[in-house]
This record gives sequence, structure tokens and C-alpha cells, in this order.
Amino acid sequence: MNRRNKPNSNSNGKRILHGCTGLLLLLMTGMVSSSCRSRHLAAGRPPTSSDNAGLKDVYRSYFPIGVAVNAHNIQGEEGKLMLKEFNSITPENDMKMGPIHPRQHWYNWKNADRIVAFAGAYKIKVRGHNLCWHEQTPNWMFKDSDGNEVSRDTLFQRLKSHIYTVVGRYKDAVYCWDVVNEAVADDPSELLRDSKWLKICGPAFIDSAFWYAHQADPKAALFYNDYNAVRPEKRKRIIKLLKGLLDRGVPITGVGIQAHWSINEPSQQELTEAIEAYAALGLKVQFTELDVSVFPWEKNRRSLKPSDKVVYKGELEDRQRAAYKMFFQVFRKYKKDITGVTFWNLSDKDTWLDNYPVPGRKNYPLLFDTSLQRKAVYYDVTRF
Ligand code: GLA
Repeated sequence: MNRRNKPNSNSNGKRILHGCTGLLLLLMTGMVSSSCRSRHLAAGRPPTSSDNAGLKDVYRSYFPIGVAVNAHNIQGEEGKLMLKEFNSITPENDMKMGPIHPRQHWYNWKNADRIVAFAGAYKIKVRGHNLCWHEQTPNWMFKDSDGNEVSRDTLFQRLKSHIYTVVGRYKDAVYCWDVVNEAVADDPSELLRDSKWLKICGPAFIDSAFWYAHQADPKAALFYNDYNAVRPEKRKRIIKLLKGLLDRGVPITGVGIQAHWSINEPSQQELTEAIEAYAALGLKVQFTELDVSVFPWEKNRRSLKPSDKVVYKGELEDRQRAAYKMFFQVFRKYKKDITGVTFWNLSDKDTWLDNYPVPGRKNYPLLFDTSLQRKAVYYDVTRF
């Protein structure tokens, strides 16, 4: 490990809060109105958004409400909004293998540590994302010092070392991990995606990743996370994978349904059936990357067309409002199976969907507008 990135640690090697960061963060507490909750409690009723409570307050008896952030989001106006509305965060990029472990003997802890310190200072839950994925993985992981592909044993060893180091460092701070991300293939005739992990290690990389994470932090909740996980066809293949893990006794807590959805899908029936099917396996469900695009789903990147420019009002806005309203009605109904709902980004000001799958196509997928203000759809999910 490079000395510059050595963690602040006590004699047992456990992470301690960075003194200065902690102090600064605590000073920021003044940003939040503290009287809100006590007023509701005094009035003897649960808070609603009309009382100026945040999403997290409205959903306190349901599940934590999270948001994906990067280190630059946890300050200023975005930091204030986060603290007001959310009680869980997922680092959008800063814990992924590429950003956090860019070279074999060097971990880049800076941004992940900032997010964890912020969450610690404000008692916000942290979802770790993610430990093993086919994207945003550093090239060195699969190569030996001569540039040749590593052996199966070496890759298992590297995966273990990565997971032990990252999960071990954050074991007091991160309550759950997306252990394996998107291992199921897009091609319906295949079960597993054709990735370097699969090619070099075989399917056992999935079991092993869960075991390593469990050994590194036996208390952590461990999730398999994927997209299109409520589409019936892919859902069936994900369930096949999950059943295999459960039959082999692999320590898995739940399934992360990414929920990169749109105003066209999923239907109430698809969503309901998916929750019931996953819960029937004895797994918990989390919606880990929720956003509702105003465009239909497309997987492949393409360039901008004139018809891609839309105005967020009228029918488009109405359809998004109806979709969000239905999704949250279903979430509330299944609260016993659902242990978290996380939005993928904070507001329409800065969403990954402005650049994916069409670079430069403005999208409006979240509950807060480009000025960080609550949209009408915010009230559709908070007034019920
Ligand atoms: C997937 C990943 C996320 C993120 C999104 C795009 O859903 O799980 O980490 O990269 O794609 O932002």
C-alpha cells in the first residue's frame, strides 16, 4: 500500500474518523433544520412532506431512502439537500474496483473515506458498491507482470485480497455491500455474462466473492445487484443464479434491483411479481439505483438525434408522476420484504442519464429539478 493512502488507524488497524474532516462535517450540521422532527413528534403524528419533512422522515417506518453520491456532492447546496431528504448513501463510483484500487499495490481511499466520514458524522447508512463487476475494473487485475492473462488461482487470490482490504477497511461504516454486480448475461440464451471473471475463474467467482465479503465482515448484508431484474425473462435467470447460491449455502442476504426504469416500464404486475418471486427465496429486496427516465430503455450507446430534445411538462411529466406514484405504492405495500430504496443521483441537475445511453440528451429522472427544488412528482411519492 502506498504510504500516502495509508488509512488513519488505531493500534488495532481499525479505521478512525479523520479528525479535521469530522470537525468540519459537524460544523455543517447547522445547515439542517433540527426542529422539524421534534415538532411532528410533539404533534403525535407521522411527518408528511407538507410539514417540510424529508423523504427519509416520511418513509421512516418503511425503509431507508438512499441516494448515490460522489465526493463532490456532499457539500454546499447538494450536501444540504442530501441531509434533509436521505438517510442512506451509496458511493456512485468511489468504491468501485477501478477508482479505489487503480494499481495493484495502491488503493486510492481519498474519496471513499470522505463519503464514509460524512456519513459517520451525520449517522447516515452507507451501502457499499461494488466489489466485483465486469466494468470499471482496472486492467492490471487480469494481467501478470509480463502483460499476459493471469491464472485462475492468481485471479481468485487478487479478488480475495481486494475484497478483504476494502470490506475490512469499512467494516464499521458500511452496513451492506453489492458484492457481485450484473453477472447475468443480456443474451436470454445464456445464464452468465461473458466477462473476464467468468472466462478466467469460471462461475465460482460469484460464490467466492460472497464468501470473501462474509469472511471480511460477517455482519454485513450482502447483495447480488442487477438491472432489468423485474423483466420476467431476466428475472427468471437471476432467480436461477440466486437459487444456486442459496442451495450451495453461499452467504447472501438479498437482491439489489437496480431500478433504472422509465415512464414505460415496469408495469405494476411485473414489479409485484418480481418482489414476490425474490422474497419467496427468503431474500430481502433493495431498489438500489432508482431513476425513471423520460425516454424508453436503450442499452447501447448512440449519438444525439433532433427528436431527443424534450420539454419536461404535460404528458411526459404526467406519465412520470403516475409511474413514480405506482412504484412507491408497491414499495410501501411490500415494506416487509424491502430493506432500502436508493435513488441513482440527487437531482436532474446532475444525472448519469444525461450522458447514457445518448451523450448530451437531457433527462429528468429524479424527484428534484435542475435547481435542486422538489418537483411535483416529489409530492406524489410523499403524500399518501
Ligand atoms: C450500473 C452500475 C452503477 C452505475 C450505473 C450507471 O447500474 O451498477 O454503478 O455505474 O450502471 O451510472
